[in-house]
Amino acid sequence: MRLTFGYRDTVCEIIEGRGFIASVGNLVGKERNVLVVTDSGVPVQYAKSVLAEFSNASLLTIPQGEENKNFNTLETIIAALREQEIDRSGALIAVGGGMTGDIAGFAASCYNRGIDFYNVPTTLLAQTDASIGGKTALNFAHIKNMVGTFHHPRGVIIDTDTLKTLNARHLYSGLAEVIKMAATSDAALFSLLESDQPLNDTLDEIVAAALRIKCDVVLKDPLEQGLRKVLNFGHTIGHAIEVASDGKLSHGECVAAGMTYFCSDDMRKRLEKMLKRYNLPIKSPFAGAALLPYISQDKKRKDGLITTVYVESPGTFEFRKMTPEEVASLIS
Ligand SMILES: NC(=O)c1ccc[n+]([C@@H]2O[C@H](COP(=O)([O-])OP(=O)(O)OC[C@H]3O[C@@H](n4cnc5c(N)ncnc54)[C@H](O)[C@@H]3O)[C@@H](O)[C@H]2O)c1
Ligand SMILES: [Zn+2]
Repeated sequence: MRLTFGYRDTVCEIIEGRGFIASVGNLVGKERNVLVVTDSGVPVQYAKSVLAEFSNASLLTIPQGEENKNFNTLETIIAALREQEIDRSGALIAVGGGMTGDIAGFAASCYNRGIDFYNVPTTLLAQTDASIGGKTALNFAHIKNMVGTFHHPRGVIIDTDTLKTLNARHLYSGLAEVIKMAATSDAALFSLLESDQPLNDTLDEIVAAALRIKCDVVLKDPLEQGLRKVLNFGHTIGHAIEVASDGKLSHGECVAAGMTYFCSDDMRKRLEKMLKRYNLPIKSPFAGAALLPYISQDKKRKDGLITTVYVESPGTFEFRKMTPEEVASLIS
């Protein structure tokens, strides 16, 4: 699948399919001076395939893990860009999950006041969610994504073959965000996820459908002022569970549990069946009272109210404004 995504003066080419990692050179330009950034947990063959496409490129491997999405790693990337003598005609290419994409994108947005950024996402979460939308970020003072910019990539090359090396927990965690998008915005994708077909046979179709949803929502609301809030389905309670679980549950697992509180009864039954199939939790391990302090910290809160997303049936949604206490009371 090929999509062209235009935002202001940036045109982003999104290419998705199996084996597409080999087309990075053609998209970026093989003669350009580039820095390829990957992390230590990503199988090195992916970054090496990208590197082999260029005559003038170097590779930087940053340490894996969310705790390394910080200023130290940013400095390392900036130093490597300088070492490679990248100027504004050069480019930075990230090869990895959302962590690598977020920090490399941030570096590209501020080095020399902004250079071209290309993303080769290698986790399901990064392929369907984090690589689209132009959000870059670093964590600071234990607050996730506290420092960030909007810097749209020039290109996103999604090779679904790279998902073969991802462990099942990461794969299913990423799938939780896809289920979220299907629930609010695509009844056909929801049915596909409900079907008995093995995930491996439908993965390309699933990634392509999720990408279309994410691009559509981001294009309609690039600066997250309205419609893009639909992507927060499951996140109001999900975020609170994530903070309370102190790293024991992944983001996707928390979002999965968080969705089940904002559905009609029929929708909840269908959702729970699907979540169980992918080893995702269907309820909060914490009581509402324990989550209330974290729900109250929701950074998207306005005038004391949180805009939550409610789903009556697949492919539909409505926004509901609620107090943190009302949200907490949904969890028995
Ligand atoms: N920018 C956005 O819009 C946006 C949206 C959602 C999430 N995010 C960010 O994304 C990050 C989470 O992303 P993630 O879930 O991809 O985690 P991640 O990038 O930390 O990757 C998870 C682990 O998988 C490894 N890995 C990556 N690709 C692999 C592969 N193909 N095979 C085997 N191992 C592989 C990584 O080394 C890492 O250890 C968070 O920092 C989050 O804030 C950003
Ligand atoms: Zn999320």
